[in-house]
Amino acid sequence: MRIGVLTGGGDCPGLNAVIRAVVRKGVSVYGHEFVGFRDGWRGPLEGDTMPLDIQAVRGILPRGGTILGSSRTNPIKIQGGVDRIKENLVATGVDALIAIGGEDTLGVAKQLYDRSVNVVGVPKTIDNDLSGTDYTFGFDTAVNIAMEAIDRLHTTAESHHRALICEVMGRHAGWIALHAGMAGGANVILIPEKPFDIDRVCEYVESRFRTRYSPIIVVAEGAHPIEGQMELQAGELDAFGHVRLGGIGEVLAKEIEKRTGKEARTTVLGHIQRGGTPTAYDRVLATRFGLQAIDAAHEGDYGKMVALRGTEIVRVGLDEATAELKTVPPSRYSEAEVFFG
Ligand code: F6P
Repeated sequence: MRIGVLTGGGDCPGLNAVIRAVVRKGVSVYGHEFVGFRDGWRGPLEGDTMPLDIQAVRGILPRGGTILGSSRTNPIKIQGGVDRIKENLVATGVDALIAIGGEDTLGVAKQLYDRSVNVVGVPKTIDNDLSGTDYTFGFDTAVNIAMEAIDRLHTTAESHHRALICEVMGRHAGWIALHAGMAGGANVILIPEKPFDIDRVCEYVESRFRTRYSPIIVVAEGAHPIEGQMELQAGELDAFGHVRLGGIGEVLAKEIEKRTGKEARTTVLGHIQRGGTPTAYDRVLATRFGLQAIDAAHEGDYGKMVALRGTEIVRVGLDEATAELKTVPPSRYSEAEVFFG
């Protein structure tokens, strides 16, 4: 068989570990050949390929990013996009595709599968917001980076008696904020799933200062106040119609200063959470996903996404995986609330 591999959407640590596992097992156990498609769906759309053999994947296990490149190209939005992909798969002799991506990339994979393309999905995203899998790889690395930042913010906040706000990624899910905030002992965690009450946030800030410690507030980029409490600006949209988030930390700092009279400053972690080497957990998860994905392609079990359920790697339908976002349930947020203030 000749199998195409692509990585789409926002990159995350562990992508290279998946590619390595797919190619290593595919070549050595099954004797398959591989083609790398560059920059997500742009690769098969434009027939842009690169060689992908054992040599190409040597030494990439600990490397962040993706040797294939990535993009947010959405072929469904491009006139004739699906047909062009199908023609290019035939032209490059590709029998099946392994698409490594998040909600958007796998949503496209699902639509291609519905139009007779042989495709297997692998879930990646630092946001951990994909249904059908307990965890996505990249999440653990992002959480550890954010936790370390929070640890550092605690010490400098206390020297200067400031409130420090740490804005983390996660799009419309608060998983990174919740886990990093819990692990880092944040005094307030704000997530998109629960609109925050700015009066309450300020009470937490003031009560923390009264204990002679300084408050650390972790805010997810998608968090927002209860309607009408504060004014927010809308961001631009990407090719999948997602708004570009970021900036809530700064807005929050200004509001806290205005209301409490205490100095409040913001650190935006941004793409630092996505770069660099994956944790051991993410390397193992990504490797196990890659091994299962090549098995699925070899068996012709298409239209599936590999997933983690407990400690087992299983396969679920792409439709189940992309049907809805996995957000933070209220019970998980309540656990964190015990430590607020
Ligand atoms: O989905 C991963 C993610 O990092 C989100 O947390 C974030 O909102 C978005 O991608 C940022 O996208 P970009 O790198 O295109 O700015």
